[in-house]
Amino acid sequence: MWNSRDIEVTPGARCSGSQISASSTLDDAEPVVRLASRLDRAHHVTMTRDAFAPGNTLVRECLAGRDALVVMSPSVHRLYGPRIKDYFADAADVRFMTLRRTEASKSLDGVVEVTERAAAVGLRRTSPIVAVGGGVCTDISGLAAALHRRGVPHLNVPTTLVGLVDAGIGTKNAVNHGRRKSALGTFHPPEHTVLDIDFLGTLPRRQLANGLAEIIKLAVVKDRPLFEILTRYGMRLVDSGFRKPVRAAEEIVRRAAVGMLAELARNQFEIADFRRKVDFGHTFSPHIEVASGHSVLHGEAVAMDIALSAQIAHTLGLLVDADLERILTMLEAAGLALTWPGLSADALAATLPSIVEHRNGDLHLVVPTGIGTCEFLGADDISTALLRSSMATLTRRTCGDEAPSVRRQTVSTSGGQ
Ligand SMILES: NC(=O)c1ccc[n+]([C@@H]2O[C@H](COP(=O)([O-])OP(=O)(O)OC[C@H]3O[C@@H](n4cnc5c(N)ncnc54)[C@H](O)[C@@H]3O)[C@@H](O)[C@H]2O)c1
Ligand SMILES: [Zn+2]
Repeated sequence: MWNSRDIEVTPGARCSGSQISASSTLDDAEPVVRLASRLDRAHHVTMTRDAFAPGNTLVRECLAGRDALVVMSPSVHRLYGPRIKDYFADAADVRFMTLRRTEASKSLDGVVEVTERAAAVGLRRTSPIVAVGGGVCTDISGLAAALHRRGVPHLNVPTTLVGLVDAGIGTKNAVNHGRRKSALGTFHPPEHTVLDIDFLGTLPRRQLANGLAEIIKLAVVKDRPLFEILTRYGMRLVDSGFRKPVRAAEEIVRRAAVGMLAELARNQFEIADFRRKVDFGHTFSPHIEVASGHSVLHGEAVAMDIALSAQIAHTLGLLVDADLERILTMLEAAGLALTWPGLSADALAATLPSIVEHRNGDLHLVVPTGIGTCEFLGADDISTALLRSSMATLTRRTCGDEAPSVRRQTVSTSGGQ
């Protein structure tokens, strides 16, 4: 195999198949048949370089001779389309489509678009949908794979930093609906995810910083050594498109991916526990994304949530000055804004009940208690006054005494398409 290494975490729990037990009496309290049904699905994550080089057989091996539908983000189609098509030239029947969707149009319509193309090309039951792109592409394609014929396999080749360390390796996928972020989705683990940092060389700087936020998230709550590596190399990597120093690029992506998968593996379908460290940065961020009309990117909103959660922890005496400073400085150094001028404490507080519903009855707000450690706060710990004062402290840090609107340009509104 071409310069590829399996990441050792295989989160798909290997379970037995279905078990059936039948009751012999017609007792209203007992079901007539009890069917224990569990999936037996492994999810492999492999790191490689130059995934679509003609001599790199990894992705073709993943197809194992099956026909496939390859779904590409527009930029991927533009930058890598011919190379990807050449790569599959001698493979089985591989068809292609470009998914022209952004965060603002990451909806069920996009899912239907992929399933219709899958039906049009006659994708068979065991044939995969292969997403090659950012999180929008892998989310829509994963959900389409879960729905087409009630579920076909899918493979991910993430091409953004968010994709490499988060969206492309996770077990779930979702689209936005109404004004709700990631409102409709499934847990449908990919069969295989292929991680290739070479794609990052063409990613715009804003998108790299956006992805760095997801890595900072992980470092802060559970991986102090990763935080130290980021402190040393993070900015150089963002400036060089994750090309230099290449060892640090590989180490950071590998460490972040393994750390993420280790968290997911113990609660893959999120039914065992609703206190998830990887929810750090994901409590206030959905509101920021939606309220900004998606002009604030996912990772940028995560960065603001990290800053606010850390500031809350500091205000409550859970995080010392020096650690708060290290977290905020790292975000700022990456060019990530700490807060969004359109944000109001009242509006933010109003969204928390729906987060409580999603987390099965409590907020479980993840806050750092040091670099590499965290704890969970309940809904009762978070008052609107606490949100207001923490947000005001961050605004003062960002804007000094100026009105927030003066510095509104801290968050760029240009799209990454
Ligand atoms: N399912 C999950 O577990 C999960 C986890 C994290 C994030 N997400 C979702 O992922 C999405 C964000 O993903 P994203 O940040 O990858 O955004 P994205 O998919 O919108 O991609 C960002 C931009 O980069 C372009 N692009 C992709 N690869 C490129 C490359 N190699 N070179 C140049 N341009 C390239 C895309 O065409 C797009 O314009 C959000 O919708 C978020 O909700 C999902
Ligand atoms: Zn995220």
